[in-house]
Amino acid sequence: MGKLRLAFQRSIAAKVITSTVLLSLGVVWLAGSALDSRLSAGIRSVNLSSSIAEARLAFFNAQYQLLISQGVSSAERKKVLAEIVVEATTQGIKEQRREVIFVKTPSTKISSVSYEMSSNSSEIASIPQSLRTNIQKDSSLHYEYGTLTYATGDPVDSLFVGNRIDIPGGGRYEMYVVFSLANQASTISLIQNSLLVTGFALIFLIALITYLVVRQVVRPVRQAASVAKQFTQGKFDLRLPITSKDELATLAISFNDMAESIERQISRLENLSRVQHRFVSDVSHELRTPLTTLRMASEVIYNNRSGFEAPVSRSAELLVAQLDRFERLLEDLLEVSRFDAEVAVLEPVDFDLIVLIKRCVQDLGIDGDEKTSGISTKSDDSVVRIKADMRRVERIMRNLLSNALDHCDGTPIEVTVVSTETEVSVGVRDYGTGLDESSLIRVFDRFWRADPSRARTRGGTGLGLSIALEDARLHNGELDAWGRPGKGAHFVLTLPRVAGEPLQSRPLKPAPADFHQEHFLQ
Ligand SMILES: Nc1ncnc2c1ncn2[C@@H]1O[C@H](COP(=O)(O)OP(=O)(O)OP(=O)(O)O)[C@@H](O)[C@H]1O
Ligand SMILES: [Mg+2]
Repeated sequence: MGKLRLAFQRSIAAKVITSTVLLSLGVVWLAGSALDSRLSAGIRSVNLSSSIAEARLAFFNAQYQLLISQGVSSAERKKVLAEIVVEATTQGIKEQRREVIFVKTPSTKISSVSYEMSSNSSEIASIPQSLRTNIQKDSSLHYEYGTLTYATGDPVDSLFVGNRIDIPGGGRYEMYVVFSLANQASTISLIQNSLLVTGFALIFLIALITYLVVRQVVRPVRQAASVAKQFTQGKFDLRLPITSKDELATLAISFNDMAESIERQISRLENLSRVQHRFVSDVSHELRTPLTTLRMASEVIYNNRSGFEAPVSRSAELLVAQLDRFERLLEDLLEVSRFDAEVAVLEPVDFDLIVLIKRCVQDLGIDGDEKTSGISTKSDDSVVRIKADMRRVERIMRNLLSNALDHCDGTPIEVTVVSTETEVSVGVRDYGTGLDESSLIRVFDRFWRADPSRARTRGGTGLGLSIALEDARLHNGELDAWGRPGKGAHFVLTLPRVAGEPLQSRPLKPAPADFHQEHFLQ
């Protein structure tokens, strides 16, 4: 039922056909019933006038026959009456059955011979009493509709037409010619049935025509919708066919123009970004060789700094530190251009995540460092094996940890590992400067730093988190961030146990338990 309703709501054809059928049902019903009542009334009136004319003829004939047979014996008169009955019942239209009844008027003196008779054992008592009273009142012809019953057989709806008749020597009688209405009824029902069949056929045809017409309009609209959908999926070269000159063609032409312009814009932007990517990648590559030479030269100077004067020796130290930074930046840029060129490949291996995290913490070399009161690692399991690209996971962890260290302001850092059958989450939480809402939106942007002028020992470039997010997504994983100014930050990396599998859930939420109701941003 629900499905049917949905299909109805979605289809213009269904809506238009239903409303057209309902409206035409009303119109056909009105026209049909008007036609039916006019035709039935016409048939009834034609039938009535012809019946009355026939009855009048029969009365006249009977009176005439009786007049010319004056003075015969009662037996002879009965014979004449019988002949009159036979003649009256057989003349006229063959299909219309009729009966003739002679009945004595109550005011007639009782004579020894009764001339009452009726054809085909039709019952005298079935003549409507009101009609009899009318006939007894005057000498004119009267009629009434009623039901004629037979001594044997079914009653029949009939038209009773009666008149006074004087039987010479027999007294006053009433003569009735009774016409069966069965024929008329069957004609009327035939007309009604034909009207009904025609009505339904008409409605069916209207529905069919509506469907064909609606389809003409709906088909191009559906086609346009399907092309537009494929367009959004990246098939920019698709166009709508133009087969006519009507409004639908105008729609198709406008759509095609729009598609053309979008395609042009997109390819222009694609070209532009390709050129930019190429530029970054080329420059990074080109810088590598001179940098290597610089590095070697600077190391020579650095190693001999003891022989230099103090300012020169200090410059040598600065040179090496900045070259370190330069080298890291160049590496990051190369990685970024690899992501952009979509040539970054995953090399998954099976390893223990806990061991990797411990190694990263150790490599930070913060033992005895006054910057933090320590990094603690919490995990439900002592071994968490995953299949992932170790180099990339290590890079993510290193960045998250060094970021936390940079911003923890001496507070402890907590690393939490929570795993399920299908995925594993690593949260890095610090209680330092934190991040406000507007920073959370931008934290994964390239080259973005909350406070570029902030003096930091590690002097980052702002590429770390953007690379980390790309690394996580390459595994089909996610990197979520949470933060509050002054309350610290929480970065959660979630990876599928096997790289590439879809994520089913996040075992660890970025918002800490006491901040759960607040939203987080990626
Ligand atoms: N734990 C954190 N607390 C507060 N701010 C953070 C934290 N982690 C990252 N940020 C903010 O996000 C910015 C971007 O971080 P990201 O790791 O991308 O770059 P970076 O650390 O500055 O440089 P890089 O990692 O490339 O050496 C940081 O400069 C910092 O402002
Ligand atoms: Mg960083």
